[in-house]
Parts: sequence; structure tokens; C-alpha cells
Amino acid sequence: MANPASSAWVDSANGIVSREIFVSGEVFEREMKQVFSRAWLMVGHESQIPNPYDFFVSRMGGESVILTRDGEGHVHVFLNTCRHRGMKVCRYDEGNTRVFSCPYHGWSYAIDGKLDRTPGALVGVPHFKAAYHEELDRSQWGLIAVPRLTNYKGTIWASWDRDAPDFETYLGGMKVYLDAVLDHRDGSPGGSQVICGIQKWKVPSNWKFGAENFIGDLYHITSHRSVDMVGIGPSGKGRRDEPKAKKGDRERRRNPIITASVGFPALGHGLIGTLPYYEEPDYRPSFTLTPEVDEYYAEVRARRVENLRDSLRVQSFVGTIFPNLSFHGQQPRAVFTWHPNGPTEMEMWKWYLVDADAPDYVKDVLRRFYLRYAGPAGLTEQDDMENWNYATAASTGAEAVRYPYNYQMGMGYEQPVPEIEGAVYTKQVTEQNQRIFYQRWAEYMDATSWDDLSTSSEPQTHASSA
Ligand code: FES
Ligand SMILES: [Fe+2]
Repeated sequence: MANPASSAWVDSANGIVSREIFVSGEVFEREMKQVFSRAWLMVGHESQIPNPYDFFVSRMGGESVILTRDGEGHVHVFLNTCRHRGMKVCRYDEGNTRVFSCPYHGWSYAIDGKLDRTPGALVGVPHFKAAYHEELDRSQWGLIAVPRLTNYKGTIWASWDRDAPDFETYLGGMKVYLDAVLDHRDGSPGGSQVICGIQKWKVPSNWKFGAENFIGDLYHITSHRSVDMVGIGPSGKGRRDEPKAKKGDRERRRNPIITASVGFPALGHGLIGTLPYYEEPDYRPSFTLTPEVDEYYAEVRARRVENLRDSLRVQSFVGTIFPNLSFHGQQPRAVFTWHPNGPTEMEMWKWYLVDADAPDYVKDVLRRFYLRYAGPAGLTEQDDMENWNYATAASTGAEAVRYPYNYQMGMGYEQPVPEIEGAVYTKQVTEQNQRIFYQRWAEYMDATSWDDLSTSSEPQTHASSA
């Protein structure tokens, strides 16, 4: 039975969502427990910790965690807090160490699990003999390890909930679209690496503004009019110069390439991309200012034809995996997280991806394009952040907060995607995916355990679930 509070916040049958969920401290505290302590969250990429004892300090919801690789190559994620009095045991962003020593009183924790130790074991306690009289049971006071971890094509995901479904069940039919982000451009599985380190910056906005923008907002192009006119794309035109489907593709090919909003009502994920198709389109130059990069990608496209042959393929333009992982699947290829700092502040983290074996000149051209497009100094994302910042500020007032947001665009026009279990799509501009996201968010907010959060992939439309 739905919790009355969540029903009051999200009315997906009528396309209405309360402003409270974007500004309220009470809602924020509840979603930390109900959403972020339960869902699978991306914490990093394996290319950030290639060597034994490398670490990268990441986040899960509001909390700091340490992603590490032990001496045997196993990956662990620990809560970044000392068991003695809570001090952060690691205050660096990344590095390499065998032991985390707490700066406060000096308790030390080992990454390695060898010699019968649990990974993260407490191995050093000042005054262990003189003051603790060797009576402290160190085996009970190691770092807290996140219990569920998986490496999916190089991305590392974690969940605090032992009862969460395995990651691939959690992804469901979204897998094919995440693969289109993470796979090599030649169609072979995986093979991506992170370049440029990562970017982190604070935005005075609720974290859900970012997640909902990337899950399906295809119609905020008025925001980006100025950057389109400047022409920051790799060919000096527009924002991007992606080889999109052209009219000829629809007429010529045995199954046309159709852009659509695709969503997963049972899972809360969604994206803007293409419906599945089976024949690789011709290569269209997208880097005309740097012809050598186009030559490289034309050759990659030939390998892709060979690798994928007649198999199903999709393009992922932008999307969100519930709750806070979003991506750009093509230009500028990246995965990013919306970390909640409070009801009206988030921290954006952005990992830029390239094919690990691409020539250096290709990586360099991509890096330059990525940075002028995205991130705190990127011209396109400045537009987005401006919208989210002002929208948050303009929703916090005692009067403004009484009036809900409208998500009624395209209601009832969803259709099942025949090739992908659990997926629905709308070809026109729509708020289908935003409704799916908030419906799933409300289910998390009401659930008492994973038993209440079915991931059944029976296709259902809002029309039928209303
Ligand atoms: S808080 Fe870490 S040793 Fe005291
Ligand atoms: Fe945008």
C-alpha cells in the first residue's frame, strides 16, 4: 500500500510532481535511506585503479567511500570513516597505499585481505598494549565494506543492500543502451578508459534536476541556442557533430533508424537514443577540422560492421540509470553522477571515456572537445546548470513550493519496444521518461525492502498503470 506522503509527492497517472521533493530537508533525509542505501550506484572505473593498492575516493549518496584494489587485484569499497570516532581515514582524492591511517588518533586499516585478515582490517591501534591491555577485539573494528560490488565493462558499481537484485537484473533491458556507452566504438565489448582524471563541482540545485534532464529532456534546445551559434562541435558547427540518422536512412534501410525516448517503467531507467536496428549506417564525417580523426573513425566503423554483422544495435544519446548515474553515449562520451549534498545542492562528477586503444591524437582532439562542451567551464553545461540553479531557487519560497511541476507531455502515447523486454518508447518529444523516473522514485520512498520493489519487466504503459 502506497505511503500517503509519496502519493502526495508524485502523481504519475496525472503527470504531477510536488516541488517539495526538490527543496525539502525531510524528503532529502528520507531519500538518502530509501533510495541511496538501496540502489546500485556507480563509484568509479577500473582504469582509475589499475595497480595494486591504488585507491580512488568516491561517494555513495551523501557518504564518502574508498574504491581500492588489493595486492591480489581484488576491488573493494569501504566507507571512509574511522571506527574509533568517525574521522575520515582518507582525505586525498586518489593515490596508492597499503594502509589507511586515521589522522585523529592513529588507528590503521589494511587494504589486503591476506594472512587471514578481512580486507579493511584494523591492524594498528596506538597504546594497544599499555592502554587497551590487548583486550580490544580488533577483528570487530575494521573498515565497513560495501557488501555488494560488481565490475560492469570497467565501471564499478556498489550497493549497501544485501537483498538488492544482481546488477544485470537491476539494469534489465537498459543493458543494451549502457553497452552502447561503454563498448568500444568498433562494437567489441568494453575497452573504454577514463581520460583527464575526473571533474567535480558543486551546483546549487537538487540532484534530481540533472537526473531528469538526462533521462529524457529532448526539448530544452532553447537553452542551448547560444552555444549552437558559437559552434563548439568537433567540426566547428553546432554543439556536437554526431552522425545522426538522415532521411535517406529511413527510406533505404531494411529497418529504419528511429530516434525515440525509451524508458523502463519497472526499473526507473530511461534514455534518448534510437530504437534497435540491424544495419550499420554509412560513416559521416564528424571531425572535419581534423581529417585524421575522421580517417580513424571511418576505419573503426569498418571494424564495427565486421564485429556486429547483423546483430541488434542501438545508439544512446543521453540517459539515466536510476537513481543518479547519467551518460552521454556519443559526443562527448561520458558517465556522470549527481551526488546529493542537501536538498538544494548537488555535486556533479564526470568521467570522460575514450577507447583505450585509440591513437593519442584522437584522444587529444576528444579531450579538447569534451572540455569545451561539458563540465563547469563547458559552454553547454553552463546553460543547463543555470536552469537548474534558478529553478531550485525559485521553488523554495513558502508560496512557490505549494505549486507542483507539470509532467503531462505525451501522456498515454507509450508503446512497447518489441525487441527489448520491459521497454516502452515514444517517438515524439515527451515527458514519458521523467514520469517513469519519479514513479520509481516514489516506489523506493515507500518500500520497506526489496520485496516491495519488483523489477518485473512486464511492459506497462502509464495508460495501463494509471
Ligand atoms: S577517530 Fe580515528 S583513530 Fe580516533
Ligand atoms: Fe542540456
